[in-house]
Amino acid sequence: MNFFLETLQVLLLSIWYNVESFIHFFVPIKKKNIAGEVVLITGSGSGIGRLMAQEFAAHGTVLVLWDINQEGMKETAKLAKQSGASRVHSYLCDCSNKNEVYRVADQVKREVGDVSILVNNAGIVTGKKFMDAPDSLIEKTMEVNTMAHFWTYKAFLPAMIANNHGHLVSIASSAGLIGVSGLADYCASKFGAVGFAESVGLELLATGKNGVKTTIVCPYFINTGMFDGCQTKWPRLLPILQPDYVAKKIMEAVLTDQVFLLLPRSIYLIAVLKNVLQWKQTSLLASYLGLLGCRSRLTRH
Ligand SMILES: NC(=O)c1ccc[n+]([C@@H]2O[C@H](COP(=O)([O-])OP(=O)(O)OC[C@H]3O[C@@H](n4cnc5c(N)ncnc54)[C@H](O)[C@@H]3O)[C@@H](O)[C@H]2O)c1
Repeated sequence: MNFFLETLQVLLLSIWYNVESFIHFFVPIKKKNIAGEVVLITGSGSGIGRLMAQEFAAHGTVLVLWDINQEGMKETAKLAKQSGASRVHSYLCDCSNKNEVYRVADQVKREVGDVSILVNNAGIVTGKKFMDAPDSLIEKTMEVNTMAHFWTYKAFLPAMIANNHGHLVSIASSAGLIGVSGLADYCASKFGAVGFAESVGLELLATGKNGVKTTIVCPYFINTGMFDGCQTKWPRLLPILQPDYVAKKIMEAVLTDQVFLLLPRSIYLIAVLKNVLQWKQTSLLASYLGLLGCRSRLTRH
C-alpha cells in the first residue's frame, strides 16, 4: 500500500475508533464469560489482591493465590470460596525470587493446569526518599514490582500463546505514568511494569495472537494501608480511592478487554498534560497537585 492510501486508512480508522468509543458511552461493551478460567493473582493475601480474588470468584473461576503471607492467603481463600470460586489453590511464593517463581509455576501447572488469566498484583513500597533508601530495599522494590512480572510472563504466557487464549493483567500505578517526589524507586518500578506490559502487548499484537489480552491498571492512592500517611491535596480532583471500587473497576476492565485503566478519571488528563507541557509548567502542575511531597510508611519488604 502506498503512503497516501495507508495514511488515509489510519485517519479513517482513527475516526471510526472515536465514534466506536462514543457509542460505547451509551451502549455498554459486552462482557466476556470467564467461568472455569484459571486465574492466578500474585499478592492476593490482602488489599486489592484479596478483593480481586473475591470478584473473580463470583464469576465461577478456579483461583490460584500467591503470596508470602500464609495467613492472609488463608483468609482470602475462605472469602473466595464464599464468593463462589469453583476451586481455590494457595501457594507460598516470593515473587521477587526468580527461581521460586519458576518452581511454584511448574507446581501450579502440574496440580491445577495452565493459567489463563494472570494478575501481577504483588507490590511493595519503601516509603523513603531516594538517598535514605537502603540499596537492598530499592532492589527488592524493583524485584517485586517489575522483575516478577517478567518471570511470571515467562512461566505462563507460552500456554496462552499456544491456545491463543488468555489475559495478562498488570496492577501498576499512576506512579508508573507520572513521577512523584519521595517515591523514586516505586515510580521507577511501576514505570518499568507499565513499559513491560505495554511492550509485550504490542509484541503479541505483532504476532497476530489476538486471543491474549492485556490490561494495565494505573490507580492513584488506594485506601489499603500501603500508602498510609499520604494525603491528597485536592480530594475532588484526585480522591483517595476505595479498594472495593478499584477491584470492581479492574474486574470490569478485564471483562471488557480494556487495555488501560487509569483511576480516577482525572489521571487521563494529568498524564496527557505531563507529556505535552513544558518542564516549568509540569513542575508547577506537580506542585499544584501535591506530587512534590508524598511520604508513606514502609509496608512489606
Ligand atoms: N494502595 C495504593 O495506594 C496503590 C496505588 C496504586 C497501585 N497500587 C498497587 O496495587 C497492588 C496491590 O497493593 P495493595 O494496596 O493491595 O497493597 P497490600 O500491601 O495490601 O498488598 C500487597 C500484597 O503483596 C504481597 N507481597 C509483597 N511482597 C511479595 C512478594 N515478594 N511475593 C509475593 N507477594 C508479595 C503482600 O504480602 C500483600 O499481600 C500493588 O502492586 C501496589 O503497588 C497500590
